[in-house]
Amino acid sequence: MERTFAIIKPDAVERNVTGQVLSMIEEAGFKIVGMKKIQLTRKQAEGFYYVHAERPFFGDLCTFMSRGPVIALVLEKEDAISSWRNLMGATNPANAAEGTIRKKLGVSIEENTVHGSDAPETAAYEIPYFFSALELV
Ligand code: TYD
Repeated sequence: MERTFAIIKPDAVERNVTGQVLSMIEEAGFKIVGMKKIQLTRKQAEGFYYVHAERPFFGDLCTFMSRGPVIALVLEKEDAISSWRNLMGATNPANAAEGTIRKKLGVSIEENTVHGSDAPETAAYEIPYFFSALELV
């Protein structure tokens, strides 16, 4: 079993579609082993996305991610990291495949509804950024 880190982003919380995302997660066979609602400060968003610090979209991304509450999740499944990225769909919802969360619910390349770790090393940074070991059950 592998664990990955996921976020339901502010655009989805604002539009009241967190339940739809959670349904798709459970229907795909993931176990939710950690879940909390949190509002990131701008600084916390910058720390979370530090790998993108030099990218042109970094400022807007951190503003977006801190503009309202998010749902932080740890998901468990065989091949959870790649399975979750497949279920999320392409970064730009316009390019996302049928059946993916971003195709169904994404608004734009920035407001794309969900985040997912892209590699085991990323998950190993992102999970403890949000959760203590005692919060994962
Ligand atoms: P990235 O890690 O490339 O995508 P993904 O979320 O699919 O792993 O980028 C992180 C986030 O940055 C992405 O979800 C949305 C935002 N972003 C933009 O706003 N504009 C862009 O051109 C890109 C590539 C990403």
